[in-house]
Amino acid sequence: MQTQTLLCFSKILVVCVSLCTVTQLSSLHFHSHRREVHVRSFISNLSIPKMANVSVAAEWQLLYNRYYRKPELYPMKWKHVDLARNKVAAAPFGGPLAVIRDDSKIVQLHAESALRKLRLFSSSGHLLADTVWRHPGGRLVGMSWTDDQTLICVVQDGTVYRYDIHANLIEPNLSLGKECFEHNVADCAFWGNGLVCITEAYQLFCIADFKNPTAVKLADPGIDDMPHCMAVIEPQYTVSGNVEVLLGVDDAVVLIVEEDGVQRIGEDLLRGPLQKMVVSRDGKWLASFTHDGKLLVTTSDLTGVIIERECESALPPEQLAWCGMDAVLLYWDDMLLMMGPDGDPVHYLYDEPIILIPECDGVRILSNTSMEFLQRVPDSTVSIFTIGSTSPAALLYDALDHFDRRSAKADENLRLIRSSLPEAVEACVDATGHEFDISRQRTLLRAASYGQAFCSNFQRDRIQEMCKILRVLNAVRSPEIGIPLSIQQYKLLTPSVLIGRLINAHQHLLALRISEYLGMNQEVVIMHWACSKITASLTIPDAALLEILLDKLKLCKGISYAAVAAHADKNGRRKLAALLVEHEPRSSKQVPLLLSIGEEDIALMKATECGDTDLVYLVLFHIWQKRQPLEFFATIQVRPLARDLFVTYGRCYKHEFLKDYFLSTGQLQDVAFLLWKESWELGKNPMASKGSPLHGPRIKLVEKAQSLFAETKEHMFESKAAEEHAKLLRIQHELEVTTKQAIFVDSSLSDTIRTCIVLGNHRAAMRVKTEFKVSEKRWYWLKVFALATIKDWVALEKFSKEKKPPIGYRPFVEACIEADEKGEAIKYIPKLADPRERAESYARIGMAKEAADAASQAKDGELLGRLKLTFAQNAAASTLFDTLRDRLSFQGAS
Ligand SMILES: *[C@@H]1O[C@H](CO)[C@@H](O)[C@H](O)[C@H]1NC(C)=O
Ligand SMILES: *[C@@H]1O[C@H](CO)[C@@H](O)[C@H](O)[C@H]1NC(C)=O
Ligand SMILES: *[C@@H]1O[C@H](CO)[C@@H](O)[C@H](O)[C@H]1NC(C)=O
Ligand SMILES: *[C@@H]1O[C@H](CO)[C@@H](O)[C@H](O)[C@H]1NC(C)=O
Repeated sequence: MQTQTLLCFSKILVVCVSLCTVTQLSSLHFHSHRREVHVRSFISNLSIPKMANVSVAAEWQLLYNRYYRKPELYPMKWKHVDLARNKVAAAPFGGPLAVIRDDSKIVQLHAESALRKLRLFSSSGHLLADTVWRHPGGRLVGMSWTDDQTLICVVQDGTVYRYDIHANLIEPNLSLGKECFEHNVADCAFWGNGLVCITEAYQLFCIADFKNPTAVKLADPGIDDMPHCMAVIEPQYTVSGNVEVLLGVDDAVVLIVEEDGVQRIGEDLLRGPLQKMVVSRDGKWLASFTHDGKLLVTTSDLTGVIIERECESALPPEQLAWCGMDAVLLYWDDMLLMMGPDGDPVHYLYDEPIILIPECDGVRILSNTSMEFLQRVPDSTVSIFTIGSTSPAALLYDALDHFDRRSAKADENLRLIRSSLPEAVEACVDATGHEFDISRQRTLLRAASYGQAFCSNFQRDRIQEMCKILRVLNAVRSPEIGIPLSIQQYKLLTPSVLIGRLINAHQHLLALRISEYLGMNQEVVIMHWACSKITASLTIPDAALLEILLDKLKLCKGISYAAVAAHADKNGRRKLAALLVEHEPRSSKQVPLLLSIGEEDIALMKATECGDTDLVYLVLFHIWQKRQPLEFFATIQVRPLARDLFVTYGRCYKHEFLKDYFLSTGQLQDVAFLLWKESWELGKNPMASKGSPLHGPRIKLVEKAQSLFAETKEHMFESKAAEEHAKLLRIQHELEVTTKQAIFVDSSLSDTIRTCIVLGNHRAAMRVKTEFKVSEKRWYWLKVFALATIKDWVALEKFSKEKKPPIGYRPFVEACIEADEKGEAIKYIPKLADPRERAESYARIGMAKEAADAASQAKDGELLGRLKLTFAQNAAASTLFDTLRDRLSFQGAS
């Protein structure tokens, strides 16, 4: 038992130490090598409020069957803030307070400064920022915080001024529109991210979401008197998804006004106008104060009454608020009344003005001197601390007390609750979460650990989890930070939003510690810190600031230096931006930034170094736009990858510019190629065919290319070719004009000649022949086959007789055979000089005898063999060839 208890001590101690706030942690480092005796005395030295000594429950109030408590969160640190003479807007979730003198209320005192100031405080009354209020536009009608902690101030003429938490005006100023300007805003109501206002002409306007702040007019409620009260049901809780405005008007009804209509509700239920209304957090219930001094709680569509209770005053309360979902608070001058579903109301007396700040699980009560939190006592806490409680949790808590006093009663208690130990432990853990008092948190957690040591089946990390949450909560609740979140609010808000709020309030160190502690991404925090640092450090030289920034930025792997650099650039610190972006390892982020800060050359270098063609193009296009062409050409000339990419791109899309580039670098031949290519492109244009005059430009292009090729010795061939091409195009063009047939352009020289002959235009063919110095042989070949194509056998024969053909007669034979004109072929076969050719030609037209004769003249046995095979079907021919071959071999043998 002894060792087990000691073991359990060390656990308890760890719990206690871990409860210290995050900020204190380093100074309270626990050394695990300490001996157990020390551990024990350390524990007994802790000042723990003894249960027997402090009756926790004595501070509770009973409302119907539920307990409520109202612990003080902070004594307010502010001085001389008279809530009666100020307008106050408090943000939920332990958010900040905005305070401004209410000019509609006061008679100015001499002592008071004539300057009207808007002051922002934390919930503990610590001044966050202030600014002089000098807006025109009349009375300040309404003021409220949005979900992202922007302060919204609506003035009479319908202008909406927005402030951040550092009291900086966020521009542009918004306007609720012309009608509001003309008729004045009389009142407004807010919700998380929107507002509704009513003008003195009784028209309603709404900004549904400040993220997209446009004012919309709602349906005309058709009233001619100011409503007694106004409340809104947030869009997220309405059927239509649009805001619903409830107006308590003189007839015994409530009007529900929406964008597209007005409804009257509560006609059966109300007997007079409502004086004050407030909708519950979930939009389901409406608490209202009736004309005859009653608190009425109904469904928000006024169909069912939940509570109707007489109040002591017939005057409507100054403030009406829901406290959680179970009770409603009514505040008159010095009295705060809490009403539940049944039983006597609870009275609280205040001798100073207070402000009720509804939270999801209670109401914060702000006064000149303190901030309190009124909430229903959680069940676990009730089970432990109710006077005379014999719940397992209460007994466990008691057992710890006995144990601390070394009383044997500790064991006795434990034995009593053995079977329900897990639930006792759970209750202690849960109650811990709901405590604001750190020493009581400690005691409760010690009780939980004490119990856990004796119960094997309790989830072990439950206590650690709770410690973690409480360390965060205690840290942000500390008066310096002043965010008094309850555990329920914290869970609803989520840690990441909390961290967002901390960094927004420039509590970067704490935000960093918390995100580190909770294992969340620290990048958000460090990034925000770095940006704020840059904004705030106008006087620190670049190099020094860079050091400071790098020191922190390196804490977070993968952080975007480029983003920080971008911010530096936006703040006019281009040099710092350039220094920062050097540290960005990802070219994809680095390069665009370099461009945006005007470091094009470095950007191009980085982009080409990393070889990402997309990035290179990005830089190219950027520089291209910004620089003079010659400067641009010089830039890319020295970077082969960039140059090649540019050329590739230019070939497809930017010929003119690419030509300029080639000219600038003296690559005339490349310009020439481009021109040549362009001429082809022109040719592909359907307009260019049909002898259209587009051929003119084409020819010019080719000629230009030719002259450019001629500039360099190395391109004589190209120059010549271009020259010929131009000449050919010109002739073809003329031919098309004269023949009125679009069949010449872009055909080859040979085809041109052939086409001329086929068309019977021998003069033109001759002219082309002469122009292009077509050789005789080629000319013969072309003409022979062209004539055969048109079966002009007469012309062919005439042609064969002009002179001895330089290509011999074989092409004539071929052409006739191909045209399947044996009769024509026979005319030329005898003229073939070579008997072998003759033999073969005869064979091809099936004249075996003549073939055989020719073959035997040639004295070619092998040829005879082949011919025999050709005439294999023909037995007579076969025999003939055999005989001849035999004769031949005989002659050869002799
Ligand atoms: C606990 O208190 C006793 C007496 O007040 C003191 O002698 C002892 O050093 C304290 N132990 C620790 C760990 O502070
Ligand atoms: C409460 O504790 C104080 C000392 O801390 C002691 O003097 C007093 O007797 C205790 N009261 C009760 C009721 O135990
Ligand atoms: C605010 O509270 C302080 C301290 O209780 C008091 O002295 C002061 O008179 C109060 N101020 C106002 C304006 O009520
Ligand atoms: C917003 O209002 C303030 C004065 O109230 C004025 O100085 C400022 O120029 C306005 N901003 C814009 C963008 O109109």
